[in-house]
Amino acid sequence: MNILVTGGAGYIGSHTCVELLNAGHRVVVFDNFCNSHPESLKRVATITGKSVDLVEGDIRNGHQIEQALRDFKCEAVIHFAGLKAVGESVQLPLKYYDNNVVGTVRLLEAMQATGVKTLVFSSSATVYGDPQYLPLNEEHPLSASNAYGRSKIMIEDMLRDLFRAQPDWKISLLRYFNPVGAHASGLIGEDPDGIPNNLMPFVAQVAVGKRDQLNIWGGDYATPDGTGVRDFIHVVDLAHGHLKALEQMQQAQCLAVNLGTGIGYSVLDVVKAYEKASGKPVPYVIAARRPGDIASCYAEPALAASRLNWTAKLGLDDMCADSWRWQSQNPNGFKA
Ligand code: UD1
Repeated sequence: MNILVTGGAGYIGSHTCVELLNAGHRVVVFDNFCNSHPESLKRVATITGKSVDLVEGDIRNGHQIEQALRDFKCEAVIHFAGLKAVGESVQLPLKYYDNNVVGTVRLLEAMQATGVKTLVFSSSATVYGDPQYLPLNEEHPLSASNAYGRSKIMIEDMLRDLFRAQPDWKISLLRYFNPVGAHASGLIGEDPDGIPNNLMPFVAQVAVGKRDQLNIWGGDYATPDGTGVRDFIHVVDLAHGHLKALEQMQQAQCLAVNLGTGIGYSVLDVVKAYEKASGKPVPYVIAARRPGDIASCYAEPALAASRLNWTAKLGLDDMCADSWRWQSQNPNGFKA
């Protein structure tokens, strides 16, 4: 299949490009590199021995997307492009609605104009808000407390409306839990700009000596060790999930599916596993809770197993070992 991958140079996008190429698909990346680096696509080519076609552009430019869909005779779209910093979204909500929501409207219009009706969308477990029960299944009510989360819910709602109006579309909404780790080659991985917001990239930078210590945001949650519990999922498993979602979409649908392991690990579990994988100490202090954080979040992954024939295979030790390989081999990410 010829597949347009928006945001394909990014963290999850680049890992998904590898799986798509390995499965024999032709990949066209549409990316403006606002939070990614073209070097990632060169590394994808090194890993797979195949190259991706690249269109440098902004998803808010509908004409350019339409042109790319036509030029490369695309049959499906995997839509990763979007902004994802929760804190920034609170400060700059319009930037998030413009990039994420308006950008998706432009993409969908371009798909409509070219008759491309198969879409895999990057949603997030953030759409569940503060869990009312655990594990989270896809029936859990949706809510958001920041513009980033709301932009994901708005896009999901928009896609459900589109499907109601045009029931011949094939749409998968993949709700990611906490993606971590890196490709086993150590060639691609997460390359955050500035101080990492997310846990594992921060821990990685402490282990490699770029930062002195980890601040653990809260040690008094109602969890086994008092620190936050999350469903960390290896980015290569997540990438496989996209391939499976594309392969299983034989019939028209608009289906939301969790991509998680179903297992919750605490922040301290991650610190210990990372120390073991890296052989380096990860000093930490327990600090105040981060506003907006929840105590625990983990998936009920049964729907992905039954509908996508997908389950996560890699565990926390693999996630830490692969993250460490990427971090230690590329201490400055793709910029080196
Ligand atoms: C965050 C986002 C979420 C987004 C997801 C994408 C917030 C509030 N939520 O989820 O919307 O979908 O990333 O990957 O930003 N932690 C520390 N010290 C740190 C960093 C994190 O203790 O320096 C803790 C957090 O308090 C939390 C856990 O580690 O308990 C995971 O945090 P993080 O990696 O930021 O992910 P989420 O907050 O789950």
